[in-house]
Amino acid sequence: MDWGIKNRLQRIFKEDGKTVMLAVDHGYFLGPVSRMEEPRKTIEPLITYADSLMITRGVLRNCIEPRFNIPVVLRASGGNSILGKDLSNEGITLSFEDAVRLNASAVALSIYVGTDHEHQTLVNLSKLVDEGQKYGIPVLAVTAVGKELGKRDAHYLSLSSRIAAELGAHIVKTYFCENFQEVVKSCPVPVVIAGGPKLKNELDVLRIAYEAVSQGAKGVDMGRNIWQSRWPVAVISAIRSIVHENASYKKACNMFNDLRK
Ligand code: 5RP
Repeated sequence: MDWGIKNRLQRIFKEDGKTVMLAVDHGYFLGPVSRMEEPRKTIEPLITYADSLMITRGVLRNCIEPRFNIPVVLRASGGNSILGKDLSNEGITLSFEDAVRLNASAVALSIYVGTDHEHQTLVNLSKLVDEGQKYGIPVLAVTAVGKELGKRDAHYLSLSSRIAAELGAHIVKTYFCENFQEVVKSCPVPVVIAGGPKLKNELDVLRIAYEAVSQGAKGVDMGRNIWQSRWPVAVISAIRSIVHENASYKKACNMFNDLRK
């Protein structure tokens, strides 16, 4: 790996090799999703608790002050909306020149293994990796977003995560599942987990984070289960303790309950 790629990855993954990424890029297909109607208000109070922000260039430019010294993972795929027929029909929506202008530490795109747009999104990933190599910018591949994909079990998530790594992704973002260690074991690059739609109970989110990290995830790249919570700072702080301080599930729950009060 070239120095630029290594350096940028080390901005995202802290000294312990782990990361708490805050995903706030949902508007690129969901529009003003609940609690992200005014991105600045939601994101700013959480910035100091995150190791990086996964974000679109539009929200970064318009809603985040450049004074914040936070590594940025820029959303680089899209081209459809929740109203369209097929969320998997994505193209590349960002140039590396713009990623450099925005001082990106990585770019992110989604792949849709097992859909009608499997080929297109996997080729998009390969192209992005090739371009990223020219600029020293690593690529994060997001697997398995969307309702049409059906069961997200260890077999499917291992398949899509491994394919992403084989095509050159430097980080894979996927979902927690039963036998998650199988997904991590067969993926030769760091795996982080998304949270998915908001769960009713924050303690369930902490359990997923705890189980994922215990089974080898290098951290989380979570969104809605943090910023759609009534207590976003308490949730992200408790997640940090799991990721960076090896806190037990019980300790993280106690932390969440104390901060929530
Ligand atoms: C959308 C994304 C999101 O960043 C991802 O889904 C993580 O957010 P959440 O924890 O809310 O699922 O990649 O395509």
